[in-house]
Amino acid sequence: MKILLTGGLGYIGSHTAVEVINSGNEAIIIDNLSNSKIEVLDKIEKITGRRPKFYQDDVCDISALKKLFAENPDIFAVIHFAGFKAVGESCKEPLKYYKNNLLSTLNLLEVMESYQCKNFIFSSSATVYAVSEIMPLEEDFPLGASNPYGRTKLFNEEILKDYQSAHPDFNVILLRYFNPIGAHESGLLGEDPNGIPNNLMPYICKVATGELDHLNIFGNDYKTKDGTGVRDYIHIMDLANGHIKALEKMTKENVGLKIYNLGTGTGYSVLDIVNTFNKVNGNLVKYEFTSRRPGDIAECYASPSKAEKELGFKTTKSLEDMCKSSYQYQKQNKK
Ligand code: NAD
Ligand code: UD1
Repeated sequence: MKILLTGGLGYIGSHTAVEVINSGNEAIIIDNLSNSKIEVLDKIEKITGRRPKFYQDDVCDISALKKLFAENPDIFAVIHFAGFKAVGESCKEPLKYYKNNLLSTLNLLEVMESYQCKNFIFSSSATVYAVSEIMPLEEDFPLGASNPYGRTKLFNEEILKDYQSAHPDFNVILLRYFNPIGAHESGLLGEDPNGIPNNLMPYICKVATGELDHLNIFGNDYKTKDGTGVRDYIHIMDLANGHIKALEKMTKENVGLKIYNLGTGTGYSVLDIVNTFNKVNGNLVKYEFTSRRPGDIAECYASPSKAEKELGFKTTKSLEDMCKSSYQYQKQNKK
């Protein structure tokens, strides 16, 4: 089956492309390289032995999408990763985020409709959940994003729900990712943010290679087991496999609209991450406690039960695997 991955050269898209190919499907990628590099295509080919058909185009350009579908009229499903994802930037430039993250979806739906392509998997996020005292988060918990990036995810979910209810034979799976970290075992693919990273694991990796001096831990006074923030970190290859499970479900049945958390169900604190990283990679990461980061919450972790029951999705990788592979990629790709 032909599967179109928008943003397929990015962090999550590239690892998923590998799994799409390894599961016997054909991957077609559209990416405008706004946050990725063309070399990733060679790396996907190196890992899988198959080079995905690639379109260096913008999903917001509807004529480019029409051309892509005209050349590949038999695409079975679209996995829509393309989008901007930096929370801080979205607060400063909300229109940039609304335009890219919403128009891309609207264009895809329009063109998919004219080609009778009826399967859509969307990269949503744990960020769509309203702040909750109750953990783990279940898919039917109240929603409410707290920044423009998060609202683009929430609005996308609403658009897709409305579209699906108007077109009952259209299948949508919303995958709410928790915190993906780690890298492909080859060390060829991984997360490679430009500039100083905002997220925890990329920052730790740059401290470990000596590119940054130390990690600032944002707060040690949360009501958590050690005072630092707790999150549900999921290995990128487990996350990628979640998309294959979603695709499999779409081949078997008319799914309508389904929502699944992709997380492990286990919360780890910042100190758990730093200590595990230092244990498996050598004592490389120094840290200091600083004040809380505005907008952060104490704890956030998934209930993975629904994805396990309905998709047969189960994570297999440990926190040690996540820390080892993240650092391996960083060392191999140090700039
Ligand atoms: P990424 O930035 O690494 O990948 C996104 C890719 O999309 C990039 O290659 C970029 O060049 C491309 N792109 C962006 N806008 C485009 C457009 N208009 N047309 C064509 N290509 C475009 O991000 P990622 O971490 O791989 O995230 C993928 C998706 O998952 C995003 O929608 C993100 O919001 C969502 N998500 C990510 C996380 C996370 O922690 N990484 C968590 C939850 C949800
Ligand atoms: C962040 C985004 C979220 C997005 C997710 C993608 C914010 C407020 N939230 O989530 O919308 O979906 O990334 O993965 O940006 N930490 C430090 N020091 C650092 C960096 C992080 O102590 O230098 C701590 C944070 O306070 C948090 C944990 O590490 O407790 C994880 O942070 P991060 O990797 O940025 O992810 P989230 O904040 O969960």
